Amino acid sequence: MSLKTLIYNVAGIALSQEKKILLVSRLNRRLNALGLRSFTEYYNRVTRNDPTGTELQALVNAITTNKTEFFREPHHFKILEDWLNSSEEGVKSARLRGLRIWCAASSTGEEPYTIAAVVKASVSRAEWNRTSITATDLDTAVLQEAEAAVYHESDIATLSDAWRRSIFLRGKGPHKEVYRVRPELRARVQFQQLNLAKRGWAIKKPLDIIFCRNVLIYFDKPTQLEVVQRACGLLAPHGLLFLGHSEGLTGITLHLEPVAHTVYRPSGYSSDTAHASVPRLQAAVSLDSDFGSKRGQFLSGSEGWATMTVGAGVVTVLVNRDAQRSCAAHFLQNCSNAGGARAVTSILRAMVRELQANASARSSIEAKLVATRTTSAKSEKIDCQTLLSVVNDWLEKASIAVTAQRVFEETADFRLELATGRVLVRANTEDGRPFAPQSRELGKLTAGRERNP
Ligand SMILES: C[S@@+](CC[C@H](N)C(=O)[O-])C[C@H]1O[C@@H](n2cnc3c(N)ncnc32)[C@H](O)[C@@H]1O
Repeated sequence: MSLKTLIYNVAGIALSQEKKILLVSRLNRRLNALGLRSFTEYYNRVTRNDPTGTELQALVNAITTNKTEFFREPHHFKILEDWLNSSEEGVKSARLRGLRIWCAASSTGEEPYTIAAVVKASVSRAEWNRTSITATDLDTAVLQEAEAAVYHESDIATLSDAWRRSIFLRGKGPHKEVYRVRPELRARVQFQQLNLAKRGWAIKKPLDIIFCRNVLIYFDKPTQLEVVQRACGLLAPHGLLFLGHSEGLTGITLHLEPVAHTVYRPSGYSSDTAHASVPRLQAAVSLDSDFGSKRGQFLSGSEGWATMTVGAGVVTVLVNRDAQRSCAAHFLQNCSNAGGARAVTSILRAMVRELQANASARSSIEAKLVATRTTSAKSEKIDCQTLLSVVNDWLEKASIAVTAQRVFEETADFRLELATGRVLVRANTEDGRPFAPQSRELGKLTAGRERNP
């Protein structure tokens, strides 16, 4: 077995080539400290002469990347705040029972203390006293630092004065550059070691909130899937799972649905609050997924392809070019009544919200539409022209440019590349040819007409 395999087996961390170079420099320090001359000697030391496991832990601590900061990915904390203040029954009773929050890769503590500060600012004193935040990490050195809760001016440079005051006590005299997290916040955060890549997590369920951010990227796909699945199993029905900015669940089919970019909740959860009007989102972005909007679903993602056959109705694709992310909904609503049109526009609104989750400007969003005029037995009430005008009117009011549009006489095949927003279409009459490269890219609109009909 090699060091690489040992690291994978122990920590689930799949080392990339560039990480290997970093590892060599980090481990050289261990070799020097132990007076060893080669990595083979080091490997033997860790695997054969480490009865207490101290060197194995030192190896693990050396390979982890611990970058973190207060309010990292700030939009997540706004979502947390909104969730805390929502009138959902599940959330209200969780607050009364005492919130249970897990921060699953807490590094040096900035993340769990940010969570603590946001929760404390939103709940009553009694609710705060019942709140418990469990912060875990594999790396014992960062856990020690996190527990000490001491930070320096440079660590909190971006924090507003209000947050500085509510999170820290500042040192005096020669220590005035030193900040310690307030005891009332520290009291609610318990640190413990936990290896996400190993079974048997000592975490009590149900959890209301899970932060598992910027750690999945170090794992391979099967480990990522297993970690998310197990975390999902701990989550209360009203709970939220936060992943890191590049850790969306693309291609992973789970009982989760996105509520915003990289924020998920268990699927099928229905609340009787204002949130009920927000359409449910399709969880997984995978090939051949069906993203019908009858139940308020749409598909969103930034990786891979989505394909489908458009038998009737209108497929609306919204693309955020800056974020390299797309959403698509297949509308099949009967828009001759106000309810159908309302359902369509509320889904469109939710799609735009999803694409703006990273605070992108609306001007970076464009729309592409594919429709068919077919009236099948199943869809006889669907008047494609009315549906198309509802979508077009709403987009115009929302100042979202329709850059491509095509109406087929019969069913069409449709394929969307999520990162680029490239759409390929082919009439079903064009036989079973593969999509690329023969299929046409959906044409650009010129004066309201498609260039390559
Ligand atoms: C880049 S930091 C992310 C910190 C924080 N979650 C954030 O987003 O700012 C990744 C953390 O994951 C931890 N980690 C790596 N492998 C782990 C594992 N198998 N189990 C638990 N934590 C792990 C590392 O020790 C490190 O502190």
